[in-house]
Amino acid sequence: MSRNKLWGGRFASDEDPYFAQFQDSLAFDRRLLEADIIGSLAYARALERAGIFTGRERLAVERGLRQVLEDNRRDPEMITRGQAEDVHTFVEQALKEKVGILALKLHTGRSRNDQVSTDLRIFLRQKEQEIEADINDLLDVIAGLAEKHSEVILPGYTHMQRAQPVLFAHYLLAYGEMLLRDRQRLREAASRANICPLGSGAISGTVYSIDRDALARDMGFSSASQNSMDAVSDRDFVLDFLYFACTLLMHLSRFSEDLILYNSAEFSFVQMHDSVSSGSSLMPQKKNPDALELIRGKAGRIYGHLVSLLTVLKGLPMTYNKDLQEDKEGLFDAVTTVRGCMGMIRRVLERIQINPERMRDASAKGYLNATELADYLVGKKMPFREAHGLIGKIVMRASELGVALEDLPLKEFQSFSPLFESDLFQCLSLKKAISRRRERGGTASSSVRRSIRLFRKQIRSR
Ligand code: ARG
Repeated sequence: MSRNKLWGGRFASDEDPYFAQFQDSLAFDRRLLEADIIGSLAYARALERAGIFTGRERLAVERGLRQVLEDNRRDPEMITRGQAEDVHTFVEQALKEKVGILALKLHTGRSRNDQVSTDLRIFLRQKEQEIEADINDLLDVIAGLAEKHSEVILPGYTHMQRAQPVLFAHYLLAYGEMLLRDRQRLREAASRANICPLGSGAISGTVYSIDRDALARDMGFSSASQNSMDAVSDRDFVLDFLYFACTLLMHLSRFSEDLILYNSAEFSFVQMHDSVSSGSSLMPQKKNPDALELIRGKAGRIYGHLVSLLTVLKGLPMTYNKDLQEDKEGLFDAVTTVRGCMGMIRRVLERIQINPERMRDASAKGYLNATELADYLVGKKMPFREAHGLIGKIVMRASELGVALEDLPLKEFQSFSPLFESDLFQCLSLKKAISRRRERGGTASSSVRRSIRLFRKQIRSR
């Protein structure tokens, strides 16, 4: 019979070592150790309320579990020296060494099926808090940059062609909005994860009088799951987290992509600090934005984790199947990667140097004020579509002459339309183009200042 297993009883032969290794999850699910112990502590109290443990027994088990946690903190590699196939087996075996036979009572009515889902939710809850703090730190850095460079003008792009001038702060706050939505998505994912499956048993519920609401409350869950079959087979909460992670990293990747371009010699809108750039092994002059390229690349890997888990889940018959063990590595990697990327982009932004002159020069070239001129004619009662066509022709003329719109003589404008008067030149300045967009969501400084204030408030809001 297999020893060192939680399930050896009905087996006549020992496990093939190859199979043992194949199904071993300890190498990664050891990250659940603390969550597993939190779950077991609460379950011991539930068993006492159900009359399975006496008060003394429960106390002994509690002490034992805390010692296991303590031992593990002192010597994290201890876990790998035993024979356990997963973290749940490890904790039970380690507890047995502390409290003997009592450790074997702890699993009364519990299955690793409800246990592992509970552990994963406890783990994720903790990580979700840490990631929310990461998001808040990044939001603060973005707000600080927007405040510091509140009057800097940037050429805004569509189709990667210069389109209209905007405030650099307005551009930064666009990423701020994305991250606020990410934070909201994280909170929603966390609230859906905050439901307790423990007490569902292997599939059909528990025969012991476990007060599942009390058990859920004891662990800080908002409620107990409603259906035992769903509870042991549901990994939607992992998908929710992965989708959040994908969207967040997609945003960070787009931001990175912008900054990689803006940091290039061709743009030179920003300059990345040496401390977060790397060189080339061959070309001595190179300074490469590897930090941002890695964020862009890692986003791709995290997308893979979402698709992987969706694929693992799509063909599963009810209820628990060992396929579900494949939920963890992607999730753990996503957690580590999200936190790593958040810290990295924050460091890049904290040290980034802004080149307002380059941004302004680029905004002054490329007819970014052409729309203003169309609006000027609209002000003189010309239908917009007609004005648009006419200004297009004027832009063509100016570009033939190789000059900016503001350098064309009034006479030239008047040859296109008698509506042009000398006041047209006022509307052509970049500052003017920006300041006219003062309604909510626009790039005028008055509007952006309001947005920054609101943004600061939202960062602090729970
Ligand atoms: N390591 C397993 C997992 O991650 C724990 C649950 C095992 N349950 C079982 N019935 N074999 O899913």
